[in-house]
Amino acid sequence: MTRGDAMTSTTYPDQATTIEDLLVVLRAEAGAFDEDEADADDEDEDDDEDEREAAGAGEDGHLTALDHGLQCAAVLRGEHPDGLELQVAGLVHDIGHRLQPGAPELHGVVGGRYVAGLLGDRVAALVELHVDAKRFLVKVEPSYRAHLSRGSAQTLIAQGEALSDAEVVEFAAKRHAADAVVLRRADERAKVPGRPVAPLEAWFEILERVASAVA
Ligand SMILES: [Fe+2]
Repeated sequence: MTRGDAMTSTTYPDQATTIEDLLVVLRAEAGAFDEDEADADDEDEDDDEDEREAAGAGEDGHLTALDHGLQCAAVLRGEHPDGLELQVAGLVHDIGHRLQPGAPELHGVVGGRYVAGLLGDRVAALVELHVDAKRFLVKVEPSYRAHLSRGSAQTLIAQGEALSDAEVVEFAAKRHAADAVVLRRADERAKVPGRPVAPLEAWFEILERVASAVA
């Protein structure tokens, strides 16, 4: 993918109906941060921060959003080898940043909606809840905040900061909340520029398996 391709304005459907719909967004993630790096010294710092949150890259990192998703999926695969839905959720958890750029507070909801019909309610819930899982962890584990990347710490403000006591109870009671926290912890450990992981192609069969279980 060229830099020009990466920044081409794209309109995506609200919901993916095929694996290819999903792959189009994931492939766009492969170029997102490259283009952003080219603009790193530009005045558009807010967009830069959105991209860093999408990629999870540190201030000086060289990590695409796809690298981040692949690393997140790989972390989850290592820890939960039988958890295909959890792994796939890790792969796609930040696609909302591509689907609706500039709205980090909505990326979980947008991404969850996109994959729900294709990958099922559990994957959709994990994608949606990974945002509040960050707010949950910041509340219940005060040291967690120190593990957030700069971009993630900044978007935490737009996302509502730490959950309140009442919201902690509400979040914890949700179905899949515990797995969303597992995903979130993997998310924070999936931001290592240059870490070798399986490529996107290695996930095609697993995506098909998860999708076929929904159909
Ligand atoms: Fe992430």
